[in-house]
Amino acid sequence: MVSENVQLQSYNTFGIGATARYFATFAGKEELVALLQEPPGGGIPHMILGGGSNVLFTKDYDGLVLRNQIKGMEVIGEDNDHVYVKAGAGENWHGFVQYCIGQNLAGLENLSLIPGNVGASPMQNIGAYGVEIKDTFHELEALHLKDHGVVTFNNADCHFGYRESVFKRQYHQQFAILSVTYRLNKTPHFNTSYGAINEELERMGVKELSIQAISQAVINIRSSKLPDPAKIGNAGSFFKNPSVDAARYESLKAAFPNVVAYPLDNGQYKLAAGWLIEQCGWKGYRHGDAGVHAKQALVLVNYGHAAGNDIYKLSQEVLDSVHEKFGVQLEREVNII
Ligand code: FAD
Ligand code: EPU
Repeated sequence: MVSENVQLQSYNTFGIGATARYFATFAGKEELVALLQEPPGGGIPHMILGGGSNVLFTKDYDGLVLRNQIKGMEVIGEDNDHVYVKAGAGENWHGFVQYCIGQNLAGLENLSLIPGNVGASPMQNIGAYGVEIKDTFHELEALHLKDHGVVTFNNADCHFGYRESVFKRQYHQQFAILSVTYRLNKTPHFNTSYGAINEELERMGVKELSIQAISQAVINIRSSKLPDPAKIGNAGSFFKNPSVDAARYESLKAAFPNVVAYPLDNGQYKLAAGWLIEQCGWKGYRHGDAGVHAKQALVLVNYGHAAGNDIYKLSQEVLDSVHEKFGVQLEREVNII
């Protein structure tokens, strides 16, 4: 059923009060196709919405918002080393991670507690604590929003990069992801490359490494520094961590000896955008209800009644000041609607 003029505040973790001209939820492919065929389905803009944890509405949406509620999780196959688990796009991501961990299937434990739904996980190749979904992603099924054909994308088809995929680029808003299949490991390859994980495991008194312990360590770290959207509106990191070439890194290092950066395989360096933003004095900044989180400068927050444009304007001020001080251009990570 299509509703008109629906308030989206409770459907986005920034808690922005924008209105959708039309709004509907769907729980299966047929229901989605019917919504796309019936009035007002054709000829107006469409947007697929998951958990709303990576969007910023800067204005009302003059089209049809389609909220994905496709459920279901099942083991669909295995080989010597792997088990293939398929999940409906509307399943909660953390619930899916726990489902896999509960069956001793490894590979997603470092990605515990990321908000949002399974269907959005390939959109920006979600990542945290040394792992990205591209490491375990097998394939997805997506419905083309215009011709309604179902297409299967394998790992290579998605062109995953750091917070990137074809769905954010050439296929932007062209497909509805219906289901995603992950290839989990029967034998875990523990990834504790992110220093904070080892520190937390030690603090927890863990003697023997397990995917359950890593998941709990990640949950503890995340809960200690990222704001809970149920309490303070936010969409996680607002910007990407920028990469610079070695020469640029050396000159930054000469001018700012404490610059936080990590060498990449391609010879470039990834800079910690949170550090750059903090150095510009933004950490803990608040103007009206728009602010920069006090424990993590990469996260912009809505303290209650900020408009999407208040957050967007603040993000532009942050971008400009980082560029002025460091000559580094930040890029927004959150999807601006
Ligand atoms: P939404 O916000 O609903 O949608 C995001 C985009 O994907 C939109 O463009 C939407 O149109 C599109 N989309 C959603 N579902 C579908 C679908 N089924 N088919 C087609 N298009 C679709 N991200 C990380 O990578 N790592 C982190 O560590 C991380 N930490 C976070 C912490 C917090 C506190 C918060 C609030 C966010 C964090 N994020 C992180 C961002 C966010 O959780 C992820 O991007 C998540 O995958 C978004 O899922 P969602 O269902 O909420 O997507
Ligand atoms: N830092 C500061 N000040 C800050 C924040 C960070 O100096 O206010 C420096 C610190 O030196 C810190 C380093 O930056 O050690 C890295 O910070 P953190 O470990 O918090 O990670 P991040 O680079 O800020 C990225 C992802 C997160 C992901 C974490 C953990 C991006 C854009 N963000 O944040 O993803 O959870 O690493 O892996 O890559 C998201 O995408 O929404 C998100 C939260």
